[in-house]
Amino acid sequence: MSRIVYVNGSYLPEEDATISIFDRGFLFADGVYEVTSVLDGKLLDFDGHAARLERSLGELEMTSPVTRDELLEIHRELVTRNEIGDGLVYLQITRGAADRDFAYPEGAAPSIVLFTQAKPGLAESPKAQEGMKVISIEDQRWGRRDIKTVQLLYPSMGKMAAKKAGADDAWMIEDGFVTEGTSNNAYIVKDGKIITRHLGNEILHGITRAAVLRFAREAQMQVEERSFTLAEAMDADEAFITSASTFVMPVVEIDGKPVGSGKPGQTALRLRDIYLDESRKAAI
Ligand code: PDD
Repeated sequence: MSRIVYVNGSYLPEEDATISIFDRGFLFADGVYEVTSVLDGKLLDFDGHAARLERSLGELEMTSPVTRDELLEIHRELVTRNEIGDGLVYLQITRGAADRDFAYPEGAAPSIVLFTQAKPGLAESPKAQEGMKVISIEDQRWGRRDIKTVQLLYPSMGKMAAKKAGADDAWMIEDGFVTEGTSNNAYIVKDGKIITRHLGNEILHGITRAAVLRFAREAQMQVEERSFTLAEAMDADEAFITSASTFVMPVVEIDGKPVGSGKPGQTALRLRDIYLDESRKAAI
């Protein structure tokens, strides 16, 4: 069955949805995106994703073709039309179509595309019980990782390097410090303290990260937002990642060596439960 997708004002079967070959998203990766998870037909952290989208657009001097209320309406309409119980909504806004020129075009209408991905049982992923394996790679991305752009080739290369090494993902290293995973934020736990890189241009300001750190503090867990090295990660008691599509996911192996006991850690599993419980309650 074909999906119904949203493109520039219309809901269409996916095979009828088109974007210009001159679209700057296609030619320059001149676009931004968001991924919002859906559980039981409801959106998690919608406001956080909408706020980050507005920030990403602003940093690139782009305007949104829709208001936040319209965006929510489109998300909901797609979830309903595609009968999504558990899954994701992907949203992309690009600067639009214009004759190829490095300078931003004047007056191009931005393009907007949304589609759903059904992921039945998204919150019950067996990976959470097993934990995931990561490898470390050099972080060779551009310097504005706080903007959620669609230039994802280096993260794709990292994911492929991980797959070839028999792992699930790659943690990226810059100047000896872990920045983040290819599509998630990275954490370690040492002596009861949760450590994750501070915000800056070097990482994406994860919406799941913000929620998880808030819940951790509310549960009286100790949180330290600072850079950590690969050596510290290898020596940690636990490690985990967060993202909209994985929630909180334990990491049990780094570069072939077990983290802590080599099993998913208690802190990660507890935070996963809290995040899922609280987010389901607040879902809209
Ligand atoms: N990725 N860091 C990077 C580089 C990411 O691409 C993502 C999200 C995150 C986590 O952000 P959030 O908690 O807001 O999802 C961190 C999405 C899920 C993706 O590209 O599919």
